[in-house]
Amino acid sequence: MANNNPIGVYDSGFGGLSVWRALYGALRNESLVYLGDGKNCPYGDRSREEIAQFADEAVRRLLDEGAKLIVVACNTATAMAINELRERYPDTPFVGLEPAVKPACLSTRTGKVGVLATARSLDGDHFKRTAAKYADRAEIFASVGEGFVEIVERSAEQEPSTRDVVSRAVEPLLEKGIDKLVLGCTHYPFLLPVIREVVGDRDVEIIDSGEAVERRVEQLLDEYGVRAAADHKPEYRFLTFADEEYAARLERKAFDDK
Ligand code: DGL
Repeated sequence: MANNNPIGVYDSGFGGLSVWRALYGALRNESLVYLGDGKNCPYGDRSREEIAQFADEAVRRLLDEGAKLIVVACNTATAMAINELRERYPDTPFVGLEPAVKPACLSTRTGKVGVLATARSLDGDHFKRTAAKYADRAEIFASVGEGFVEIVERSAEQEPSTRDVVSRAVEPLLEKGIDKLVLGCTHYPFLLPVIREVVGDRDVEIIDSGEAVERRVEQLLDEYGVRAAADHKPEYRFLTFADEEYAARLERKAFDDK
């Protein structure tokens, strides 16, 4: 039987829209309800307890909206809270986000991989475990995208000063000789044009998680038997803990450049 309830997508703010876009592009009959916290963003330097509390509030809100599956489209919230969420809501399938370290380590030719993420994500047990697991395949250099989230939240991607901010985080990784650059925060794909500019003609593949997450969502929709009907007309909603203006900006950004 079809289930036409929405898929919930949650992030601290605008970042999860990079994942939302992958879902929107591939699942044209699924309704999506997006919750961009906005009020408590950025999460990057907050405590584990705070982030776990925000994530729990967000999940409850999405469940109130009837979400049949929830994508925690935030590496930071995944790192800090996904285990608790899975325990607390055992009937809800969750998809979490984590830096794509594994594919990068398995495909690097220089043996050097760069990872850009928030401080909290790099602190997470999962990242540390994955990094340790692939330590014999590649040397991993991690860098915090200091200021990146704030730029995306201000929609300031195209301001001239953005290049310097991006360069400060990316250049040191390039100097190590990396050939893979993992974007370990869902806000960062919005800075791709600037990151590409900083990378220049160096042979570096930039890896983000959007498509892998979309494939995982499809697997779970099948596993739980909750795909929408083929002729279902989807609805798209945008929620926030901030104000209405923020919700309107979320919606505009979701459909921007499409
Ligand atoms: N988009 C987020 C992530 O993937 C969180 C950024 C933040 O709020 O610091 O980590």
